[in-house]
Amino acid sequence: MSIQERLDYLHELKERAALGGGTDRVKAQHERGKLTARERISLLLDPNSFEELDALGADMSDPSSEERLYGDAVVTGWGRIDGRAVCIFAQDFTVFGGSLGEVVSEKIAKAMDLATKTGVPMIGLNDSGGARIQEGVGSLAGYGEIFYRNVQASGVIPQLSIIMGPCAGGAVYSPALTDFIFMVNGTSQMFLTGPEVIASVTGEETTHEELGGANSHASKSGVSHFTSEDEQSCLDDVRRLLSFLPSNNMDDPPTVDTGDSGERILSDILDILPEDAQNPYDVRDIIERLVDNGDFMEIHELFAQNIVVGLARIEGNTIGIVANQPLYLAGVLDIDSSRKAARFVRFCDAFNIPIVTLVDVPGFLPGVSQEYGGIISHGAKLVFAYAEATVPKVTVILRKAFGGAYDAMGSKHLGADVNYAWAGAAVAVMAGTQAVNIINRRELQAADDIDKTRIQLIADYERDLEHPYIAAAKGYIDDVIDPKETRVKISKALSMLKTKSENLPPKRHGIIPL
Ligand code: HXC
Repeated sequence: MSIQERLDYLHELKERAALGGGTDRVKAQHERGKLTARERISLLLDPNSFEELDALGADMSDPSSEERLYGDAVVTGWGRIDGRAVCIFAQDFTVFGGSLGEVVSEKIAKAMDLATKTGVPMIGLNDSGGARIQEGVGSLAGYGEIFYRNVQASGVIPQLSIIMGPCAGGAVYSPALTDFIFMVNGTSQMFLTGPEVIASVTGEETTHEELGGANSHASKSGVSHFTSEDEQSCLDDVRRLLSFLPSNNMDDPPTVDTGDSGERILSDILDILPEDAQNPYDVRDIIERLVDNGDFMEIHELFAQNIVVGLARIEGNTIGIVANQPLYLAGVLDIDSSRKAARFVRFCDAFNIPIVTLVDVPGFLPGVSQEYGGIISHGAKLVFAYAEATVPKVTVILRKAFGGAYDAMGSKHLGADVNYAWAGAAVAVMAGTQAVNIINRRELQAADDIDKTRIQLIADYERDLEHPYIAAAKGYIDDVIDPKETRVKISKALSMLKTKSENLPPKRHGIIPL
């Protein structure tokens, strides 16, 4: 063979690999409203930055076979996003429905190993019928190898799972082990067992979309973190999320020149707060004024909406925000919001992202279903996450912090570094309206005019106990501040805390109440 013939042969092999399952199946993929693996990669990565690995990966058990499937059902490699390196795999649904056999799992595992060794994010684009049925236990072993690597890489590099088609059976556990799951409305579905199996086992009737579609996982199960209307906007969201994150747990998040001064006064912040402290407001209006250029990337937007979490910047530096949301359930802490916030706090802590907590919380949600559902354990997760986090922690009590929720929401007692309260904030075991029924019961029973007595007792309680000055006197709050100065205060605190260094007592790991 001449050199030219050898090169022609190589090109032929590469072209065969690039064709995936062939033009008919590519057409069918497009007709389903989905892009191909390679189209997705080129939309996600910086132009011309993709370097493919194992394009010629194949089953060589029969070396003379003419039917060899080069590249198999996944495209893997590395590239750049905003100039920063990432590793990637994209399952190719046009080849055996993107199903995972030994070659596919070995290719994915190699890309994951490279990401972990080099300390760069791992991005998985999932579009697969699950375990390759023809390969039996070999494909189950392949999933196990991937799960193992997901866990080893957890907290070391950011791991992002983008679901752009089916993701069913045990295959769901790889995305579930990663940090963030993105789904596309209408075309992505995740479920452990499909509608047919559910109907035969429990008799429940459901559809693929209703059971495992993007909206169900974004709002009901909380399994997914981001929902998009199409693949392009989903991939844009992936790029945006990565812009906030460090490449690995030894790096700091990238600093961006946002042009927004830390000295900016929040002149209209009080316009958001209703005069009546019982009335709701949207805490995202506060967050948008607080952070650089109002740029806030909310995570888990549709799940447990009584708490808001997400990423933003102050003076160009990434922060994680946890904020009670008075617009939903009065911002109360319940099972789902505790889980949501605890997970986010742990993510921030793993990746050196300071946590800013905005507190407006009436307490934990009472109720039989909450107790039976384990609010004790789930609420404890939030306490655990805050107490364990050693990144800078700055907390501002906006309007109220009552009961156990005062402690749980980034209090000084759980190791927050700087704690502020707005003038007018209420910090107490409970609101006066409830408290007088307990501590003044006899007085109320004996009163000639019970309503008048109650009003007076509540006023006395508010004057004596429902304000931030006892907490400030005891040093639980470092200062009571004018809301207009919130950004200045947080900005200065974060700047001072940049050199914070704190270590937990030596241990293998804590036992978070899972
Ligand atoms: C091998 C598969 C496959 C699989 C799909 N294909 N799933 N090949 N193993 N698991 C092939 C089909 O034969 C078909 O090949 C092509 O992919 C496209 O599939 P269609 O059915 O035509 O596509 P569509 O109608 O869009 O349906 C997609 C689907 C369906 C919903 C994913 O194919 C499906 O239900 N597949 C089986 C899903 C499943 O039960 N997987 C195992 C789950 S258990 P041709 O040649 O016709 O193009 C599991 C365990 C993991 O994954 C355990 C980890 C611990």
